[in-house]
Amino acid sequence: MAGTREWYEEIPSTQDRALELARRGGEEGTRVVARRQSRGRGRSDHSWESPTGGLYLSIVLGSPDAHAGLLPLALGAALAEELGERYTVPLAVKWPNDLLVAAHPGPSRKLAGLLIDRVPSPRLGTAAVAGIGLNVASERDRFPRELRDRVAVLSELREPPPGLDEVEAVVVDVALRTARSMRTPSGLNELRRVCRRRLFGVGRRASLDGRAAGTIVSVGDEGELWVEDRGERMAIRAGDLRVEEGA
Ligand code: BTN
Repeated sequence: MAGTREWYEEIPSTQDRALELARRGGEEGTRVVARRQSRGRGRSDHSWESPTGGLYLSIVLGSPDAHAGLLPLALGAALAEELGERYTVPLAVKWPNDLLVAAHPGPSRKLAGLLIDRVPSPRLGTAAVAGIGLNVASERDRFPRELRDRVAVLSELREPPPGLDEVEAVVVDVALRTARSMRTPSGLNELRRVCRRRLFGVGRRASLDGRAAGTIVSVGDEGELWVEDRGERMAIRAGDLRVEEGA
């Protein structure tokens, strides 16, 4: 597989290390994996709880500026598709790129989160560093109390539970395939189809940064979320989305 792999028992953040490698010219596929993170980063400056048993991986991908906005959702959707089919779990991607187990009845639970940072790279032009935190076999009581009921753990959903190494290989393969698909017109169109197929919450009401936004309709070609409110369509390109999950 292309690129070097660095592994750490513990590191502040695989993302920060992979960003450093990307800035220094690391090739596509260069990746950093850790058993634990002491300062894992989530989106919007949130921290990311990283107890043992999770996969914490950041991978360098070549990412031209054209269609760059689609990459976060496309990668989330491609992971939902592959992991969902392989492990027979009902996975969906909540915009912009949370992987949710969309079980009914009951609220959805978050299996994985993605963080994509873009940096200039002497080798790739622009590199996207894709960081994923995925609860493969995490112990529930290692999460803060307020998160325990909101996370999904793959080993609880799948018998026999998949190992960390296996899930890592699948995630790396999907990330590299997605980056390649992003560079061809047919690959882009296929990714757009996967995004629409796996999108979480279609037909449900959603709020953005605490304000009612409308009903989720679909996603556009560049990864923007389309919502409709009183007959008017709007595109959402940034912000914190909450999807109503009532009956
Ligand atoms: C989110 O849902 O807010 C995104 C979470 C991304 C977490 C991963 S874990 C591996 C990589 N290293 C980090 O510090 N963050 C990402």
